[in-house]
Amino acid sequence: LFGRFSPLTEPLTRNPTKQVILERRRNHPSGIAFVAACGWQADGRGPSIWDTFSHETGRVFGDQNGDVACKSYELWEEDLRSILQLGLTHYRLSVSWARLLPDGTTQHVNHKGVQYYNKVIDDLLNARVTPMITLYHFDLPQALQDRGGWKSPNIATLFDSYARFCFQTFGDRVKLWITVNEPYVCAKLGHEDAIHAPGLKEPGRAAYVVGHNMLRAHASAWHSYDAFFRPKQKGLVSLAINSDWLEPLDPDCAEDISATERHLAFTLGWFAWPVTFIDTNSRKHGYSSESRLPFFSKDEPPILGTADFFALNYYTSRKVTSCSGHSDILSMKSDRGAQEVLDPSWPISGVSWLAVVPHGLRRLLSYIKKNFSDPAIYITENGFAQVGSLEMEDVQRVTFYKETISEVAKAITEDGVNVRGYFAWSLMDNFEWADGYSVRFGLFHVDFSDEKRKRTMYHSGREYAKLILKYIG
Ligand code: NOJ
Repeated sequence: LFGRFSPLTEPLTRNPTKQVILERRRNHPSGIAFVAACGWQADGRGPSIWDTFSHETGRVFGDQNGDVACKSYELWEEDLRSILQLGLTHYRLSVSWARLLPDGTTQHVNHKGVQYYNKVIDDLLNARVTPMITLYHFDLPQALQDRGGWKSPNIATLFDSYARFCFQTFGDRVKLWITVNEPYVCAKLGHEDAIHAPGLKEPGRAAYVVGHNMLRAHASAWHSYDAFFRPKQKGLVSLAINSDWLEPLDPDCAEDISATERHLAFTLGWFAWPVTFIDTNSRKHGYSSESRLPFFSKDEPPILGTADFFALNYYTSRKVTSCSGHSDILSMKSDRGAQEVLDPSWPISGVSWLAVVPHGLRRLLSYIKKNFSDPAIYITENGFAQVGSLEMEDVQRVTFYKETISEVAKAITEDGVNVRGYFAWSLMDNFEWADGYSVRFGLFHVDFSDEKRKRTMYHSGREYAKLILKYIG
């Protein structure tokens, strides 16, 4: 979103310093991210684990599902108008594996699905909006879940074939790729807490195996891109890592400080360390002997060096204190617990987990700069939820965006963080996973009771458009 961006044209691992100035508009990403769960059976799409999960009673708020959602499959042209109304330069969208490959394999390609995404990409480019494509956003084809899903070691090869198919089909036009969105959430919420699809509650090793296979899948796809597609297509590939900002409850207490470090190591570090600086094959990385993280095989492509940029999803912050018990996440590795605490001075958004802490993003960006060798960073998601009675004049969300984006600006200008782009979440209200339609993140309101899913710009949409003008002109 900011005038100081230089687009990243080469992978970090190859040439971290070289930046090439492209045309001005592409220099200043001001994007938005969106995942369209909709048209679940349209034109030959196969079922995904979220279809199965949301059709089970008691899984999603009000037993809602994403069958129709905001109808983006049918209303794409309207969505494009919304994108243009906001004045965006970039649009991050997630493609559905099961829409392209209904049984998850390249044996059976759904050409209608290919046509749909081709049109979306072409329309974006014709409108001078740069697409960033996410290959996996929580929605595994059900057929692959039936073969073991993310717990199966075979999934990396299957994902790699899917990724190659997408690079081959869309890569002439798409230059920014995210392989896996929020592997932490998929692993933990889907396989340990049963809050997300596939709804497994397997405390112990499952989440670690899933996270491990997601890293293997990501790395395989990155290596395929690097070897077979990058020379011609010249794009960039990364994975989107979610992390809260964490700080010690008592900044003078050594136990709180170390609990905070361990906690960050397990949320951010779980995925960011192996791709950026830990040689997982030699395992010289200080994991404790009790670590439940699986080893990577020496016979597989290395994980290290497989992020061409740092893709960060940031929503909120927590204070951390040491405690005698175990937080779930720390019990994975350590016998010393940590407790997350909310600072009462932080306002809470519509959802209870989302405390509004704009300065947390600035601190997290500095932490990443310091601890991950000053990478180029795309903030691939950040947003504010409202719940309950609807506010079209959503002043809180406006304040949220103004303050957060101003913190990002300070991170760039005062802290020297190499931020390349900022994507708001989300273009419009949509199916918010286990919260169904009860939680609204959009800059456009969607009337889910209306057959036509009428979209109306919130006040925050108008203000976001002004922010784009303010920062990038
Ligand atoms: C991150 C996920 O990627 C996105 O799908 C979700 O809606 C937001 N978090 C808000 O919860």
